[in-house]
Formats: sequence, structure tokens, C-alpha cells
Amino acid sequence: MKLTIAIDGPAAAGKGTISRAVAAHFGLAHLDTGLLYRAVGARVAEGMEPLEAAQTLSEADLARSDLRSAAAGRAASEVAALPEVRAALVDFQRAFAARAGGAVLDGRDIGTVICPDADVKLFVTASAEVRAHRRWLELRAAEPDLREADVLAELRARDERDSQRSTAPLRPAEDAVTLDTSKLSIEEAVAQAVELVRRAVAGRE
Ligand code: C5P
Repeated sequence: MKLTIAIDGPAAAGKGTISRAVAAHFGLAHLDTGLLYRAVGARVAEGMEPLEAAQTLSEADLARSDLRSAAAGRAASEVAALPEVRAALVDFQRAFAARAGGAVLDGRDIGTVICPDADVKLFVTASAEVRAHRRWLELRAAEPDLREADVLAELRARDERDSQRSTAPLRPAEDAVTLDTSKLSIEEAVAQAVELVRRAVAGRE
């Protein structure tokens, strides 16, 4: 059975970890679509036009080692507000979702725009404070001077930009199941996500 799973939610809610674990559990390919926007943002920061950066994106761009930084996240959310950049990335994402073995895609608009017919849609969220703390823990090895309060402010600005933009804003699809990970450990969040997918798949059979 070909399974398409859409996992959306705001930054640092646990989407990435959950998506990788769900993909491994069900034997599916996984695409972190945030990486596409981060790679476009990084190329634009180097002087390229946004549309050209999106249209000529290659595997090598996605493998860059500087895409996880706070600056790359900010650049991503700026180019992600441009409708022509989003349009240029649709085909790649849909082709990935349509692969024979099935796939998990995570991002902001997977359940609403990229894969509106996904078999299972999860909206993974958590409070802004919890998300900022997690992101700060992640980033501080590489950026020791980073203050948690600044990470929180940055995250709030990114949430605002992602949910207020006119094209494909961040919001749960009507048929998405929300998973709030604020009070869950990684193991608990993954177990709940796997169970939600299992139930949705069982309901289809
Ligand atoms: O998920 P991640 O933090 O890597 O995403 C970086 C930025 O890329 C997000 O803040 C958002 O603006 C954008 N994005 C998007 N649509 C997606 C995935 C990411 O707009 N499907």
C-alpha cells in the first residue's frame, strides 16, 4: 500500500524528529521541505535572485552544512513568503510525495497545498517557550553566544511571518490531527505520532 504522510507545524515543534521516526517505522522515504527554503535563502544571501535560486536548486545545495543556523532559518522564512519561489518548488515536492514506496513530507503547507490528499495529516505544535528552549539547546554548541530570549523573539517573528503570509500560510489542514508536544519527551511524541498514523491507516483498510 502506498502511503503519503503530511506533517506540518511551526519551527522546533518536533516535526523533523517525528517525521524521520515515522518514516523509518513505516519504511517510507522522508523529505524535510524546510531544507528547500533554507537552501534557496542561503543562495539569495549570496546574491542570487530568489526565483533563479529556487528554479536551479540541486542536491548539492541541499547538502550544504550551513543550512541549520538561525540565520539560514530567517533567510528561509523570507524567501518562503514569495509566491514565485513557492510555485517553483511545488513539482519537486509533489514528485517526491508520489514515489512508489510512499513518503513522509514535513513542512508548513504539506497537508494544505502540496499533498491535500495525503493519507494521514499531522499538525505538530508546542508552546513558543518550549520550542525556543529546544532550538536554543540545539544551536548553542555552534553559536555559544546565543541568548534564549533572542531565540524566542526570532521564533515568534518567524511564526508571525509564516502564518500571516498570503500564499500557503502556516495552518493546520481541516482534516489534520494536532499533536501538542509541549509536555512530551521525544520518545512519547514519536510513539503518539506512530500510533496516530497506525490508526489512520487501519481506518482506511
Ligand atoms: O522547517 P524549517 O524551520 O527548516 O523551515 C524554515 C522556513 O522555511 C520556515 O520558517 C518557513 O518559512 C519555510 N517553509 C515553508 N514551507 C515549508 C517548509 C518550510 O514556508 N513547507
